[in-house]
Amino acid sequence: MVKLTGLKKIKTAVFISGTGSNLKNLIKFSKIKNSPISIDLIFSNTIKAKGLRFSNQFNIKKYVSNFKDYRVAEAKILNLLKKKNIKFICLAGFMKILSKDFIKNFKGKIINMHPSLLPKYKGLDTHIKAIQNKDKVAGCTVHFVTAKLDSGKIILQREVKISKKDTPTSLTKKVLKQEHKLYPAAIKKIFN
Ligand code: GRF
Repeated sequence: MVKLTGLKKIKTAVFISGTGSNLKNLIKFSKIKNSPISIDLIFSNTIKAKGLRFSNQFNIKKYVSNFKDYRVAEAKILNLLKKKNIKFICLAGFMKILSKDFIKNFKGKIINMHPSLLPKYKGLDTHIKAIQNKDKVAGCTVHFVTAKLDSGKIILQREVKISKKDTPTSLTKKVLKQEHKLYPAAIKKIFN
């Protein structure tokens, strides 16, 4: 992994598809003096992603391209990432699976936030599954992205207790709160 040299922050892109609460949190983190990263690009596969509003709010370039033909979309993004000298990618609620070829271009430099204690509950509906299975704890994981879904090396995890009253909605809120602490901590762990 690239180590932080001098005072230069590592140019980072955040990929989203939805609300963008993790994106907003990462932008705030990036502005702290000791943060190893700066956020220089927001990418979404859909114009409907609410998180795109943070582009205007924080004056960060945004780029949208649908994934109808993922090869075309990935080629366009790759081009832009190279042009903007982006060296690191954070996936934050990005709902498309990146191809092996794309990942090769950023080997060891793409990380993802997943709302479960991996390797438990890869894929979607993690909180519904945890409640249905009467689990006592849920949680979140930051991991490196590899070609195999939600399977790359784990960087950090955080547990969240599930109470009897929890619903998928309440659990989502509780876990999100922890995600917002975990993502910056994982980035610090990688670079510091
Ligand atoms: C989070 O729960 C994250 O773990 C998952 O997608 C959700 C994104 O939430 N990958 P937000 O868009 O960052 O609010």
